[in-house]
Amino acid sequence: MKRRDLLLMVLQAGAILTLPKPLQFFASEKKNALLTEVTGGGNPLRFPPLFNNGGIMTLAQSTVQVWPSQNTQVIAINGSYPGPTVRIQKGQTLIVNFFNNLNEEATVHWHGLIVPESMDGHPKDAIMPQSSYTYTYTVLQRAGTYFYHSHAHHLTAKHVFKGFAGFFIVTDPAENFNLPSGNYDVPLCIQDHRISDIPNFNYAPGTDEMHWGYLGDTVLVNGTPDAYLEVSRTLYRFRLVNGSNARVYKIAFSDNSPFNIIATDGGLKDAPVQATQLMLSPGERVEILFDFSSYSINQSVTLQSLAFSHGGTLPYKQGIPLGIIRFDVVNNISSGGEIPASFNAINYYNSNEVVNTRVFTLSMVSQAPFHRINDLTFDMKRIDWQTPQLALEKWRIINATQDFHPMHVHGVLWQVLSRNGNTNLPPCDKGWKDTVLVNPTETVEVLVRFNDYRGIYLFHCHNLEHEDDGMMLNFRVTEPIGIKQISSGVPAEFKLHQNYPNPFNPATKIRFDITSVESVRVVSARLIVYDITGKEAAVLYDGTLKPGEFEVEWNASSFPSGVYFCKLITGSFTQTIKMILAK
Ligand code: C2O
Ligand code: CU
Ligand code: CU
Repeated sequence: MKRRDLLLMVLQAGAILTLPKPLQFFASEKKNALLTEVTGGGNPLRFPPLFNNGGIMTLAQSTVQVWPSQNTQVIAINGSYPGPTVRIQKGQTLIVNFFNNLNEEATVHWHGLIVPESMDGHPKDAIMPQSSYTYTYTVLQRAGTYFYHSHAHHLTAKHVFKGFAGFFIVTDPAENFNLPSGNYDVPLCIQDHRISDIPNFNYAPGTDEMHWGYLGDTVLVNGTPDAYLEVSRTLYRFRLVNGSNARVYKIAFSDNSPFNIIATDGGLKDAPVQATQLMLSPGERVEILFDFSSYSINQSVTLQSLAFSHGGTLPYKQGIPLGIIRFDVVNNISSGGEIPASFNAINYYNSNEVVNTRVFTLSMVSQAPFHRINDLTFDMKRIDWQTPQLALEKWRIINATQDFHPMHVHGVLWQVLSRNGNTNLPPCDKGWKDTVLVNPTETVEVLVRFNDYRGIYLFHCHNLEHEDDGMMLNFRVTEPIGIKQISSGVPAEFKLHQNYPNPFNPATKIRFDITSVESVRVVSARLIVYDITGKEAAVLYDGTLKPGEFEVEWNASSFPSGVYFCKLITGSFTQTIKMILAK
């Protein structure tokens, strides 16, 4: 396609989509008079327009009014700052025709989404100025609050600071649990800016700001300064995204009211956990339920970041107290939502099954590049290690510095195992995660297993100044140890063959066929061994496969003699074989 044709497509699409105004207001303007009397102003919380499963995203410089009656130059998508909110159901396919109308390179990274390498927005796959790329993938993972943002080489921090980020919400009707929905399900993207720069989003970090990160002293929520939201005396679901470059928030309500933590980065926890505060570092998400029914009409409560101490020395520091958003209670309508006693169980990895431990030491040196992982700085063309698919690994992250490092991984969701050896973790650590805050001088261990895609992914600090400075490594997910592809012809049907030899001692081979399902290029498959009591004995495969014939070996040397069942599960197809271990 010629460039002129592309531009034409953008223009036409702009006309067809008739995008809503860049900034949409949630609260009705009429009530402002009353609210001003009660609480004294602010700006109603804004919500970006919705983006459905397919369409055009055009990245360009735009002028929007972040502060009333003042123009701010931002980097917007389809004229919207923050970018449009992707809301997509698990199992559906996203198609984004992305146009880079900036005069520098750009990529879109779908933070927390498990997607093929070519869709991950790695800086090596940058989209050149005035060029386009189609991002398309099927959302295979759990429902949850994710987000997307720039990942361009050395430009990520600037792009995000200037507005290139948006929500990515995955829904799943099977995970409804009668939670508050619609207007009572509110995404909040928290970012800090500088009062002295109003109305501009200036981004020019000095050397010290590359050390500690680019911090501000005022918070925008969904791009709204001094945000407030009119609420009802009922239960709400808030999806908090820390979209800041470097700031860590200590989240709490101004009256110290308790809330329920219901989700971490990768979706719902196994059960709600009550808390009065939590730490949220850049790249992390958390969902909470908050009940306004104990407030009376015309009362307000503010979500804040509490003060904490930190070693930074700059005028803009971590740990300063900040207001985030004010909630003004205005009516009695019920959301109909409730706080469930529990959600679906989470299968926590068993650290006894770890096959490999990797150690990452985070350090800061006095010469640029300052931030290092195992004394390395990012090299786009270097692969720093290889991890086989399906192997459970323990990653020990040692923070040898006095600063925070929110460490993030692509291509997988992981589980936090311990902090300084302590496995008794705060609620925000327990569940599926992709970013973990490693506090000054702390050691954090995570358990990680790549089930889905092979290819090159990133491990980096989500303090975006640290990331752009090179605190990032490439790794490659390789063939799983133990599964072999026997043929890549497309078999006629799903089939699990009888294992051989059978009876066996101690190892046996299991073959299975994966056929293609209409319009799906990858099929998710699980091959599980159960003992006679129905207890899971081994996971032989858990991930996605392209159609073909496969063989897996099960070495049962540590299992007692007896009857075992091996079950293949792919979508609605399941088949079970009986195997006899005779020692
Ligand atoms: Cu949200 Cu590689 O980042
Ligand atoms: Cu990411
Ligand atoms: Cu860092």
